[in-house]
Amino acid sequence: MIYKNSKYINNIFDNVSYKYDFFNNLFSLGLHFLWKRKLISLLKPKNGEEWADLCCGTGDMTFLLNKLVTPRGKVFGIDISEKLLKIAQKKSNNLGDTNIYWKKKDIFDLDAKSRKFDGICMSFGLRNLKNVEDGIQKVFLLLKDNGRAGFLDFNHSKENSLSSIFQKLYLRFIVVPISSLFNLKEEYSYIEKSIKEFPKGTKLIYLAKQIGFREVKYITLFGEQMGIFLLKK
Ligand SMILES: C[S@@+](CC[C@H](N)C(=O)[O-])C[C@H]1O[C@@H](n2cnc3c(N)ncnc32)[C@H](O)[C@@H]1O
Repeated sequence: MIYKNSKYINNIFDNVSYKYDFFNNLFSLGLHFLWKRKLISLLKPKNGEEWADLCCGTGDMTFLLNKLVTPRGKVFGIDISEKLLKIAQKKSNNLGDTNIYWKKKDIFDLDAKSRKFDGICMSFGLRNLKNVEDGIQKVFLLLKDNGRAGFLDFNHSKENSLSSIFQKLYLRFIVVPISSLFNLKEEYSYIEKSIKEFPKGTKLIYLAKQIGFREVKYITLFGEQMGIFLLKK
């Protein structure tokens, strides 16, 4: 088990912050925007609703949500990494999306009694939480009744499947060597380890049902490289 606590995770993302968007675009060849749009299109946020983008990083999903729920609704972009949030806020000011509520906070410290959301999304966040099950439970508590949530992340595919072999080779022979040139070897090596410990789709479904979600669905994208996990309370 890799050592995961909020400080460890925070250090990783603060360290990569200056190259975060650049590497996301490079390593996914820009496809992460398509996957994020796909998640939003499945969640169908509506004008007037209140949404949270948990583990928002530099805010890609927050901006997509903001376009759909405003002018009557509200969007909160929440993340523990100060450096990534600063980048998100800067982009927000440049785009003129100044009505987004950015919050630096550990999602486990959010108070579900003071605010609940119509919808929550998390892209590439769930796998990075110190405990995945606690993360799904937290989302459950933060949602209003009938609220919906969607997660996008790497799919933990079957061991020795083509998809799993491609994922390993791509991470080991493309992602890690290129990130090493920027002294970020350790940070990007962490991705393979984190996928190994991330529950497979069937386990995620089981966990969400145990927690109490009424509707649960898991689909894969891009040759099973990515997974989208959809929940309704
Ligand atoms: C891989 S990044 C994803 C960022 C963004 N959602 C995206 O898709 O590009 C994972 C994010 O999760 C955040 N994170 C991890 N654990 C967290 C926690 N307990 N509370 C808040 N943010 C957390 C990290 O700071 C980081 O920004």
